[in-house]
Amino acid sequence: MNNSRLMTPFAGPAVGDVSLPGSKSHMNRALLCAALSEGRSRLSGVLFADDTEAMLEAIVSLGATVEVDRENFEIEVTGLAGAPNFRDLVIDARSSGTTSRFLLPTLAGGSGVVTLDGAQQLRSRPFAEQIEALRYLGCDLEELGALGQLPVKISSQGLEGGEVEISAETSSQFISGLMLAAPLYTNGLKIRLTGLLVSRPYLELTVKVMRDFGVSVEKPDEFTYVVPPGRYLATEARIEPDASAASYFFAAASITQGRVKVVGLHRESYQGDVQFVDVMEQLGAKVVWGENFIEVEGDRIRGGTFDLRDFSDTAQTLAAVAAFAESDIEITGIGFIRRKETDRIAGMVAELAKCGVEAIESEDGLIVRPDLWSLRGASIDTYGDHRMAMSMALLSLRIPRIVINDHDCVAKTFPDFFSCLEELRPKVKPRGEVVAVAAIDGPAGSGKSTVARLLASELDLPHFDTGAMYRAVVVAALRAGIDPENQDAMTDLAEKTEISISELIIIDGVDATDEIRTPQINEWVSVVAANPGVRRALVARQRKWATEIGGGVMEGRDIGTEVFPDAIFKAFLTAQPEVRARRRYEESSVQTLGDVKEDLERRDRIDSTRADSPLQVASGAVVIDTSELTIQEVVSDLASMFRSVMED
Ligand code: DC
Repeated sequence: MNNSRLMTPFAGPAVGDVSLPGSKSHMNRALLCAALSEGRSRLSGVLFADDTEAMLEAIVSLGATVEVDRENFEIEVTGLAGAPNFRDLVIDARSSGTTSRFLLPTLAGGSGVVTLDGAQQLRSRPFAEQIEALRYLGCDLEELGALGQLPVKISSQGLEGGEVEISAETSSQFISGLMLAAPLYTNGLKIRLTGLLVSRPYLELTVKVMRDFGVSVEKPDEFTYVVPPGRYLATEARIEPDASAASYFFAAASITQGRVKVVGLHRESYQGDVQFVDVMEQLGAKVVWGENFIEVEGDRIRGGTFDLRDFSDTAQTLAAVAAFAESDIEITGIGFIRRKETDRIAGMVAELAKCGVEAIESEDGLIVRPDLWSLRGASIDTYGDHRMAMSMALLSLRIPRIVINDHDCVAKTFPDFFSCLEELRPKVKPRGEVVAVAAIDGPAGSGKSTVARLLASELDLPHFDTGAMYRAVVVAALRAGIDPENQDAMTDLAEKTEISISELIIIDGVDATDEIRTPQINEWVSVVAANPGVRRALVARQRKWATEIGGGVMEGRDIGTEVFPDAIFKAFLTAQPEVRARRRYEESSVQTLGDVKEDLERRDRIDSTRADSPLQVASGAVVIDTSELTIQEVVSDLASMFRSVMED
């Protein structure tokens, strides 16, 4: 398990600017164009990751001269000025789909004998359509393993090109590869797409990068690309930040109700994955499109149906966001991602389920049915897929005890992913400079009171039980013979009753520590807590308490939603209903277990359906299912999260 990473939730808003590494998609296209160009190209803002190292190695083995400046993220490439020559060469594309599918048609346009191979994972990915198209164009290709898969031996003497049809349903990379190689073919190439096209923006990216290197592609209609024969010209290209990688950070803003700015992306970006931002907006986030940045500010996360055919690399990101949505999120148009690094649909469904999130596979996507009360940590398998690791890591922003297995797989496109994410962790000034409230909300029996008390003592912070305040008002009413259903009289009591809450609960000078927990008070308290006048009065008193003493651990039902919605640290404790009932039953045996359960359900119902501040998970709150944890485990999880947000 040493390649497993235990994540620590944020429990607060992700805030900051992120500078992301260069786009793999942009970079591998530019590297190949530079390698085939006449002259010396300079690429800046480049990405050093497994997929781009694979392409770099490949172009060097084909004879391009490469100078790498890792510190300044720059690469200079002196190109071959045309098609490559090779003799019994073996190219290892590692796990890189772009490297292998971009190179295959280029190798077919070169001369000599070469074998294109890759890691086991790449060997099991599809190549059949591209192999077939190249055979049709006259290339001699031999699959050394399974048909339609790598390794492939290519014996080439250049290609004439002409016209070819290819299915666009499995991967747009097949088509991009043909387009990139086409200037090498004697007659250029007319590519006709058949079937439903997936990921069209990637073809547009190919066209744009080719144009940067002096080759213009014509598109006489939606399904035809015409590439003239010719020569790429060296250029200076700035690689855009990776828009697929940006999706994780926009999602982090949405999930935690934070604010994240990604520099270097904009509306006109080359990459189709910037469209993910529109999805965030439709879900409820606020978006600012700058000239050279995109900023997302999290807000509500509504449900909805989204077709991600054109930017499917963000489908897992959206599925992760969906775990925290207010209602179902359906993702369509992405059946083909079953054949990426792994079956991404099955993978997400299985890993979300481990975290208590119901997701159902459909023919061309999945539906996520979130239930925030059921979220729980789990050990997450990543199936050698960088996007599984990065998207499931997003759940850990608000769920403790998430472990990402084989987290190193992010090296494929984003080696520094985890440290970049860490940079967005909220930080607050020491207590005294701000009102540092740790908001602990949750239903009865979730363990909230015990946890909040112990957490306060562990962190050496004041503790405030707001539920005791509502109970105290009921005690005052019953003492004075006031009907708890008399709204005005109760509001008056909530404003005037002297309530002191510490170890002992003192109401108008009289100890009521035990009295506030009796079944008679239980019976009335939810009704009284649903009285808007009472709430208004008590919320004001609670805010005053925290503000005067600089904050502390406050527990209740609406601390994160109403009393301190800007609390820097929010937690929502839950437990399965049976567990909560048993806990309450074991605390006091006055009632039978059945009665306790019934009473609990009744109070849950009133608390979570009342019009005024219903009990619900505050946006951005970390959700902790305490059913299978000890109190000490919960306290120590919360303490380490809280410490991680306090500035040293
Ligand atoms: O946490 P408790 O069981 O002592 O809370 C008593 C009641 O008060 C419960 O029915 C919900 C209500 N309450 C509330 O509405 N808002 C709070 N901040 C705290 C408690």
